Amino acid sequence: MYLIELQELVKSYGTVKALNGLSLKVPNGCLYGLLGPNGSGKTTTLRILCTLLAPDAGQVKVAGLDVVKDPRSVRRQLGYVAQEVAIDKILTGLELLQLQGDLYHLPSNERDIRIAELIERLDMKAWITRRCGSYSGGMRRRLDLASGLLHQPKLLVLDEPTVGLDIESRSAIWQLLFELKSQGTTILLSSHYLEEVEALADQMAIIDEGRVIAQGAPDDLKKQLGGDRVTLRVREFSDENESEQVRKLLANVDGVRQVVVNRAQGFSLNLVVDDENVLPRLREELDRSKLQVFALSHSRPSLDDVYLQATGRTLMDAELSASGNRDVKLESKQAMR
Ligand SMILES: Nc1ncnc2c1ncn2[C@@H]1O[C@H](COP(=O)(O)OP(=O)(O)OP(=O)(O)O)[C@@H](O)[C@H]1O
Ligand SMILES: [Mg+2]
Repeated sequence: MYLIELQELVKSYGTVKALNGLSLKVPNGCLYGLLGPNGSGKTTTLRILCTLLAPDAGQVKVAGLDVVKDPRSVRRQLGYVAQEVAIDKILTGLELLQLQGDLYHLPSNERDIRIAELIERLDMKAWITRRCGSYSGGMRRRLDLASGLLHQPKLLVLDEPTVGLDIESRSAIWQLLFELKSQGTTILLSSHYLEEVEALADQMAIIDEGRVIAQGAPDDLKKQLGGDRVTLRVREFSDENESEQVRKLLANVDGVRQVVVNRAQGFSLNLVVDDENVLPRLREELDRSKLQVFALSHSRPSLDDVYLQATGRTLMDAELSASGNRDVKLESKQAMR
């Protein structure tokens, strides 16, 4: 029933603990989304799954096969589209696909039929005989996707498939993923776009600091979480003391469940409250406190709220704090060969 089973994965790079007991199960035929900020361990998870990286501890199974013990059989079942790919600049896209087909031992007539289909499907005709060195980001992404799909894998693994693409290319890729799913392909994709996971995924996991902090269907996650959101835009606090004082004051209002001070994108306070009946009490308390409020908004929970609830920070905040120590990582399909 599960095509992928990851259990208690642990992986460190030197002193950096990238995965810290990550477990998840992906049902057969599902489009599964991994959502997490920069550095949360998405790529590490996918590379382990695709046999490109060995875990320090834990179990990885694809279609019941142990990935560590039987990497060859697992590779045949899956197509991997990496986050950043170093593609050969001298070859043309077409030559690269032919080479890829040969590496999968596809008979050449079958290979060529399949390549022609993908060129048509991914709208690559105009540039596929040009050298890859001249391709734009969107072209390279489509070529990658084609090469991951060439051998018609049961499982397609995509690491941030639409990052940096324009809206048109993004929706073309979404469309293709829907079609593949309807034909029975299981798809696992990582993303740090909330709207992407929300639009595509049947099931999802939110990862933070190398572990799964919430999982389920996007709608269920939102329901489970419950509670309405209130966001207050305020002037910047003078120090930690003031910030803590205000936080406590609001947290004591009847019906307020949680208050988080959010420093990203100006200053705001994110509250989780029982329902809209809390609003008048909240306004009273704000008037009394003389805190300057520029705007107050009230909404039902979003996936970002699920993330905030689970980690105490917004996805945006997590991205900002990670962007300071970001590595430039080059993925290579070389290792698959
Ligand atoms: N080759 C490496 N050497 C050292 N540290 C690494 C290496 N690859 C990843 N890391 C570290 O492991 C952690 C998880 O990285 P990973 O690439 O899995 O995250 P990610 O969720 O894919 O992030 P992003 O959204 O930026 O792609 C990060 O702290 C990262 O800096
Ligand atoms: Mg990554």
